[in-house]
Amino acid sequence: MKSSLLFERLSIRGVRNLTALELEPASRLNVIVGDNGQGKTSVLEALYLVATTKSFRAERLGTLIQAGTEQASVSAVVREGGMRREQRTVLGPRSRVVRLDGKAPKSLAGYATRTPVVVFSPADLELVSGGASGRRRLLDRVALYLDPPGTDARLRYEHALRSRQRVLEERGPGARELDAFEEVMAEDGARFALARERAADGVRERLGATFARLAAPELTVRSSYVAGGTVERDLFRQRLAAARAADTRRGAATFGPQRDELELVIDGRPARSHASQGQQRLLTLALKLTELDCIREARGAHPVLLLDDVSSELDPERTLAVHELLMSTQSQVFVTTTRADLFPERPREGSERADFRLTAGALSGALRGV
Ligand SMILES: Nc1ncnc2c1ncn2[C@@H]1O[C@H](COP(=O)(O)OP(=O)(O)O)[C@@H](O)[C@H]1O
Ligand SMILES: [Mg+2]
Repeated sequence: MKSSLLFERLSIRGVRNLTALELEPASRLNVIVGDNGQGKTSVLEALYLVATTKSFRAERLGTLIQAGTEQASVSAVVREGGMRREQRTVLGPRSRVVRLDGKAPKSLAGYATRTPVVVFSPADLELVSGGASGRRRLLDRVALYLDPPGTDARLRYEHALRSRQRVLEERGPGARELDAFEEVMAEDGARFALARERAADGVRERLGATFARLAAPELTVRSSYVAGGTVERDLFRQRLAAARAADTRRGAATFGPQRDELELVIDGRPARSHASQGQQRLLTLALKLTELDCIREARGAHPVLLLDDVSSELDPERTLAVHELLMSTQSQVFVTTTRADLFPERPREGSERADFRLTAGALSGALRGV
């Protein structure tokens, strides 16, 4: 049994072009319609921010703060199973403050995994066609729920990795402090590699079947994980020591999970170079739904699903297929689109569905501006 998880209320202040908004989303499907540049993605960004403390499109959180204002704040009432909680994230030019039921949480990671949210945005096309870093981030989002200590190990590892590289470049491969950094990297890198492996296993087990549900069943898809490091600590340490000279010349560490790859194969060929654009779109969607499945299993709750700009990503038949699929999940869903006609209302959706229109940062429909 998975708990239901949903945003019951959302309050947004000072985010991008949005006017002050109070939202009461429907329990299942929320369709946000508007022309380009009206603030649709910003609403999803606000939801994502209050759940995860991050943005899915901006590197720097400061860009979310409305021009001419001092801070952005989003608060939400989230219901999970029979329990309600209030989450709040406030951004200042150089600060990020979070509150769980009015109190400072024990850790940021504890806060950020409370309300799992999975987002599908046009930029995700890069997952299939782009470099390995997007696929590694997908594995890390899964690992965050599947193996929380693995994420702690990742953060320590990345820190030691940067320190070692700096020492290599400033003092060369003979520097004495390298031993200590490599010790940390071997310990935490091996642990982090295990988390990546577990996440990759989760993805591999589900991806093929998920793709088959979306696309022509005669097309086969699989993923395979190619480790850049190792889960064996001693071997990790040896490889680091052996790579010092090369890493100094290259200006980057050549051994370790920062070099992991998740290869995607469609009909026996690399998807990146051989899949058609339509196939790449479906594979992207299958990857995201796989992420959703993995997180749902690990977290024991249905993550909230944010689908940004569905209109520009999929042709109408596929959009309807996606729609069917979404209605069969038990996740609360938020969809943005420029095309209301892609999401016709159906009988019996009733209070489970809400439709909103966004114009110049202000909402009409079931979402009310204040
Ligand atoms: N920090 C900011 N302050 C004010 N306006 C912003 C800020 N950041 C972006 N915008 C504006 O917000 C508008 C809405 O953007 P977006 O949410 O991407 O719209 P949509 O998804 O509907 O196309 C854009 O016109 C953009 O220029
Ligand atoms: Mg947008």
